Formats: sequence, structure tokens, C-alpha cells
Amino acid sequence: MHHHSHNRATLGGKLSAVLVAAGSSVGLGNIWRFPYVAGDNGGGVFLLIYIGCVLLLGLPIMLAEFAVGRTTRRNAVGAYHALDRRWSFIGYNSVLAAFLILGFYFVVSGWTAEYTVHSLTGELASLSTAEEYAAQFEGFISNPWRPLLYTLLFILATHAVIALGVQKGIERSAKVLMPLLFIILIALSIHSLLMPGAAEGMRFLFRPDFSKVTASTLLTALGQAFFSLSVGIGTMVTYASYFKPETNLRHTALNVTLLDTLVAVLAGVVIFPAVFTAGIAPSSGPSLVFITLPGIFNGMPLSMVWSTVFFLLLVVAALTSTISLHEVITAYLHEEWHLSRRSAAWLTTLSTAALATLASLSLGLLGGWRICGLTLFDALDFATANILLPLGGLFTCIFVGWKLDPERFREQLSNHGTLRCRIHGLLIFLLRWVCPVILLLVFLDNLGLY
Ligand code: PHE
Repeated sequence: MHHHSHNRATLGGKLSAVLVAAGSSVGLGNIWRFPYVAGDNGGGVFLLIYIGCVLLLGLPIMLAEFAVGRTTRRNAVGAYHALDRRWSFIGYNSVLAAFLILGFYFVVSGWTAEYTVHSLTGELASLSTAEEYAAQFEGFISNPWRPLLYTLLFILATHAVIALGVQKGIERSAKVLMPLLFIILIALSIHSLLMPGAAEGMRFLFRPDFSKVTASTLLTALGQAFFSLSVGIGTMVTYASYFKPETNLRHTALNVTLLDTLVAVLAGVVIFPAVFTAGIAPSSGPSLVFITLPGIFNGMPLSMVWSTVFFLLLVVAALTSTISLHEVITAYLHEEWHLSRRSAAWLTTLSTAALATLASLSLGLLGGWRICGLTLFDALDFATANILLPLGGLFTCIFVGWKLDPERFREQLSNHGTLRCRIHGLLIFLLRWVCPVILLLVFLDNLGLY
């Protein structure tokens, strides 16, 4: 198996590491999932806890994953296996979580593709009230074949990028489109801040109401932080295995975290003023963004152009994230099962397409089929973000904090002594004590309630 590490691809310059990692982090998690879970969990207080989780848990665990990936230069399973085979289960948890996330993430990605097309044809602009947008959305997602068509198209697009190879495909797509997404979000937030519901929306998002905190608020914020940053799932292990030896891991992690958080907050600033202006309930769930956004565009001059460009960028943001999830599975199958990269990629594509098909149908035709009262779509979303990712994060910080040779961790943070690293002690402390204790307490708290 050793020969793999000799001819593995590496990413280009310093910027590329930040871009591909940010490409994975910034996605539907920021623009679709963040507003809907924040809306459902009290707004401001959720944002506050979320940011605490990002800084105290997300950032150190991202660095831990970077170190594991670059020191071993293997896929998620191979990396933990190489360091201590008894801890390979962290890698298997990652591959499983990536598979289950793709199951619903591909479906939502398909919706963004469909909304791009409806923006272009002017169909979205022809509606006006929130009720009309809601009815249109419900009609679309429960249609037996239309969402499937878009989901499958999206899956094939992901497959095409993966098949082009790590360097060309992933790097190029991230480089051009990430900055564009950022600019358009800023423009949209300015527009939203001029809406009549802006003050109420901003109050909802930024003024914490501590009476709304429950055990499940904590777990949801934690899960959202991990989901949004792509940590606890071996994505960062896999990507860091392609980083160059010169890449500064601390700067990379810090930049990715800041960018990701900024995009989530901006998405909130775009959505909540519109939510209150249109009189939609902030707790409407996964449909929130799809009902709110078309209304925002409709109030703008050249609405068709804005809406098309925005949904197109959402497609791209989703694509750079699905690529990273796909890569976790593909790299594992390629290196551990010794399949060719081509076959590994096809196996990943076909199996996730099957799961995504079921998840999509669970919102319509197969709606009667429930798992613990949830549709397959909702169950995949809940189980990955609220269970598998926090568990992956828990074992990652225990492993890196307690089992991994601290010298090996320091070597990775300081690039073998060529960079000064003053935060090593602090990081080890966070990984050993703070992260596991918080994660365990939040888990126990939730078990107690159920
Ligand atoms: N972080 C991505 C998003 O916010 C989703 C993702 C989760 C990607 C886990 C990779 C791993 O959209």
C-alpha cells in the first residue's frame, strides 16, 4: 500500500489549500442549512452558541484533521490505520458519514439546479406572494421525477470533476467561483437591509434570547458548526493529504473558519429581513431559503439576472462541497480496496445516486415511509449532523490529544520547525480537555432528555 504515497497528487500554492478547504466548507450548509436551523432554534442565541462551537471545537478539530492527513498522506481510513490501527474506526465513521450526507446533499443541490433553470425561464419571477413560492416549492420537491432528474444531473457533474483528477478539477473550480459567491452575497445583504422587515430580522439574528436554549439547541449548534466547517468527517484529513509540506496549517484553518462563518452570517443577513418582511415563520425548516430567496429577487431590478446568477453560484458552492464528500469515499476505495481511481469514483457515484434517489422520493412518493417519525431525507440530515459528525469530532480530538505523539502534531503545525508555533500548548489543551468534555456533556445532556 506504501507505493500510493509516492505518486499522490499535491495541490498548488498556498492559496489553493485555503481555496479547496474553503470550497468544501462553504456550501449549502452556510446558505441553506444555517438559516433554517438558526430560524428553528431561536436565532441570536443560536448564532452565539454556534460561533462558540466554531472557535472552541471546530477550529482545533480542523487542525487535528489537517495534521493527521498531512503526516500520513492517506485517505481517512488509511490515515488513522497508519497511525494506530485500533483507531481506524474514525476513518470508517467518516466514509459512512460522507455517504449519508451525500444522500440528502445531492437532493438539495438538485433543487438549486432546478431553481437556476426556473430563474432563467422567468417562472420564479412570475410568482409574487410567499404562499405562491411555498406552493411552488412543495409541488416541485414532491414531484416524482423532476427533482430526481436535476439530482442525477448534479451527481454526474460531481463525477465529472472527480474524474478529471484532484488537482485540475477541484482546484480550478474553487479558484474562480468562491470569490464571486462572496461578492454577490454582500450585494444581496445590502438589498435585504433596505427591506421593511430588516430591523426585525436583524434583531432576530443578533439579539440572543437565552430563554430559548435547550439541550437540543446546543447539539444542533454543535452539529451545524461541524457540518458547516466539514469537520468530524475526514474531509479535512483527505484534503490535507494532498497539501504541500510548506502549507501553513494554522493559517489555512483560520482563514477557512473565518470565511465559512462570514458566509453563514451573511446568509442570515440576507434571509431574515426577507423572512420578516414576507411574514414567513423563521422556523419553517428546510424549505425556508427556497421560499424566501425568490421573493428577495423579485423586489430587485433585473430580478431574473440576480436570481439566475445567485442560484448558479449556489450550485457551484454545493459542487465544491459534494466533490469533497465524494473524494473522501473515492480516495478510500481507491487506496484501501485497491480499485482504480476510475472504478472507485464510479462505485461512489452509483451508490450515492441510489441513496439520493430514495431520499428525494421520501419527500413525495415514499413519504409514508418514516424512520423514527422522520422522512429518509430528514433522518439523513439529522443523523449525520447531530450524531455522526460530533462523534467523529469527539474521537478525533481524543486521538490527537491523547494518542498521537505530540511531537508529530507539533511537526505538522510548525512545518518541521520552520514556522514558529506558539499555540501548540493551547491546542493540545483544547483537544485533550475542552473539546471532549464539551462534546460528552452535550451528548449526555441530549440522551437525558430523550
Ligand atoms: N461543509 C459543507 C457545507 O457547509 C458540507 C460538508 C459537510 C462538506 C461535511 C464536506 C463534509 O455545505
